[in-house]
Amino acid sequence: MYFVANWKMFGDLRTLNSLDKVIKFSKTNKKNKLKIVYCPPNTLIRPLSKRLKKTKIEVGAQNCHHSYDYGAYTGQVNSKMLKNVGAKYVILGHSENRQLGETDNLINLKIKNAIKSGLKIIFCIGETLKERRDKKTNQVLKRQIEKGLKSIKNKSKIIIAYEPVWSIGTGVIPKEKSLIQTISFIKSRFIKKYPKILYGGSVNTNNSHKLKKIRNIDGFLIGGASHNPKKFIDIIQKTIN
Ligand code: 13P
Repeated sequence: MYFVANWKMFGDLRTLNSLDKVIKFSKTNKKNKLKIVYCPPNTLIRPLSKRLKKTKIEVGAQNCHHSYDYGAYTGQVNSKMLKNVGAKYVILGHSENRQLGETDNLINLKIKNAIKSGLKIIFCIGETLKERRDKKTNQVLKRQIEKGLKSIKNKSKIIIAYEPVWSIGTGVIPKEKSLIQTISFIKSRFIKKYPKILYGGSVNTNNSHKLKKIRNIDGFLIGGASHNPKKFIDIIQKTIN
């Protein structure tokens, strides 16, 4: 079971001290299948990976530039550079970046080059509220998967994260039946190639008991609630026990 913390634009060097609780928790937890991944801003990847060196907790990044090589791209960082400072994963296709103009084709290129750099990919897909109301959810997810993963032969490094856009940061999560159906839709079409599927969007300590019932999910991508180590541990405990 994966618990991926997407810190987004949060955290400084001092924030890392608060992770001692999570480190302690992961050391005492006996469930072998528990996988914790922290995706802090790029500024914290190196110090965090050093801190987590003797633990099972891994580090990821939140996005990267599409170019495999260095280039004149002011302010950008590519996947090789992230790998070099300790990232094992990178989140790609997050709706907050799609909203800034990332296309399926660009995401496809990023994924290809990030795999080439040796990173695992947390590939985000999800429909907007309008698309859901227009009953286009499955159609949108199918397009995002097909275009985003076009001509990628080795899919073993890809984890899909289903994050309905209308659920991110709103406190609203899909109804149990609807979430099971959507995950089944993704799995029935793509399970052979993409064995792991996470859910993301307003996962918190109050709804984790509901999310626990969604048996076909392989873990969670957690934004706001992952900032607080106590809440993060609480979510893990409530969903794995
Ligand atoms: P929240 O958990 O804050 O809704 O964010 C979800 C998300 O976007 C994770 O990638």
